[in-house]
Amino acid sequence: MAALISPSPAAPAGTPPAPPCSFVIFGASGDLTGRLLTPALYHLMREGLLDPGFEILGIDRIEHDDAGFRRTLGEALHTLGADARNGIDEAAWDRLAAGIRYLQGDFADPETYRRLAEHLAQRAEATGRANAVFYLAVAPRFFAPIAAALSSAGLLTESDRCFRRLVVEKPFGTDLASARELNAKLLAAASETQIYRIDHYLGKETVQNILAFRFGNGIFEPLWNRDHIEHVQITAAETVGVERRGRFYDATGALRDMVPNHLFQLLAMTAMEAPNSFAADAVRTEKTKVIEALRNLSPEEVPRMVVRGQYDAGTVLGKPRAAYRQEPDVAPGSITETYVALKATIDNWRWSGVPFYLRTGKSLAVRRTEIAIQFKQAPAVLFREAVDGPTPNLLVIRIQPDEGISLRFAAKVPGREMRLGHVEMDFRYAEYFQAEPQTGYETLIYDCLTGDPTLFQRADNIETGWAEVQPILDRWVAHPEAPQLYTAGSDGPACADELLARDGYKWLPLT
Ligand code: BG6
Repeated sequence: MAALISPSPAAPAGTPPAPPCSFVIFGASGDLTGRLLTPALYHLMREGLLDPGFEILGIDRIEHDDAGFRRTLGEALHTLGADARNGIDEAAWDRLAAGIRYLQGDFADPETYRRLAEHLAQRAEATGRANAVFYLAVAPRFFAPIAAALSSAGLLTESDRCFRRLVVEKPFGTDLASARELNAKLLAAASETQIYRIDHYLGKETVQNILAFRFGNGIFEPLWNRDHIEHVQITAAETVGVERRGRFYDATGALRDMVPNHLFQLLAMTAMEAPNSFAADAVRTEKTKVIEALRNLSPEEVPRMVVRGQYDAGTVLGKPRAAYRQEPDVAPGSITETYVALKATIDNWRWSGVPFYLRTGKSLAVRRTEIAIQFKQAPAVLFREAVDGPTPNLLVIRIQPDEGISLRFAAKVPGREMRLGHVEMDFRYAEYFQAEPQTGYETLIYDCLTGDPTLFQRADNIETGWAEVQPILDRWVAHPEAPQLYTAGSDGPACADELLARDGYKWLPLT
């Protein structure tokens, strides 16, 4: 078998391969392993960024042997992970597949951890490699018990010769109290430096590019404040409905699912101060400071500042979509929101008085995540007589799917009268950089393997996010009301438009 495996290609210039490691996936037969982790690991192997002795050890209850598990991951990669341009590089897959193993076991059974310890010890003896990453791709109720069991089995003990790391997926708690409790339990099992809490938005190139754009250019930062910016809109619009996640989603809703994590990450990247360096703690501290500066809403303010909607039947991308309440595993009278929009205020020197409007929803007209910065209007004095006055400059950072950045500015429309039109300068990632499509998990996994936690959430990042949305959750519990309905395939509920209209603004149209 080994003879068939071609050597690793050279890693991209300047990027060293990650150290040898066992990548232990708890919940290995779940959706995440096939859909995201396997393609991401394959991409890393193809780029020469994994050590040739890299091992993937799947752990789950269902029956498999090494070959069966390898086959399952291979099928998932070939159906979901194939990159349309290049297809699958079979040699890279073979290199990855050679290190795939499976351990059948119950997460609650100490015997599972004893066998895992035995496996890792044998591997360390045979290869001199004892590094391990434990990836918790499991339901949240298992996070703390697995961490505790790993710790009791001595599997989280590091030494000069090996690292042991724990990766925890979202959702991280369901409110402030549960997030604190989970942090306390994880920190009883491992130290903060061993815990890698994932927010997959941070793996997106375009999200990381926000910092490059802001701090790598001299011309934007001087304008990036209340003197020049009128307001900011952050949108994460999805066309998907709840699909097969009704049970999870109906207990969660759009606010918990998207706001304290993904949308706050986008807000933090947009509004944070320049860190002293790109060192993990320098970046994470600045991000936490912005979220901490968000004004906490009083119970009375919540209905005015936060609106919610739920999709009704409609047509999304030309296909009929049932009403949310008719979706599988959703209660027929559910008052869970599938859309939320809110006005956030950052009480600090830079942003005082600049509203940040956030919106996210499912079953909308288009899939689009973007940050729109509207600058203050130029004084209109010169153009009082003009047929059309100036429109404010607008900078749009498009996170997905059409990644790029555009800047709108005024220009004279050719002709004899002074007439202003607006034009757009547009940078599109796909045209400029010939980057191959990736899942976003490549960066996160590589960073975890190399011990760089910059793109992961620290305990305080998580708790600050929850602390900001907790008053909203409390108010909704105290005053349960049905969200306003919006037609599936539309731009969202009317109440979201009213939220901005009160301040004299409009959302950028989705279509
Ligand atoms: C997940 C949410 O965290 O993010 C999903 O649970 C949502 O409901 C998804 O669809 C959005 O991620 P992306 O990368 O498609 O914007």
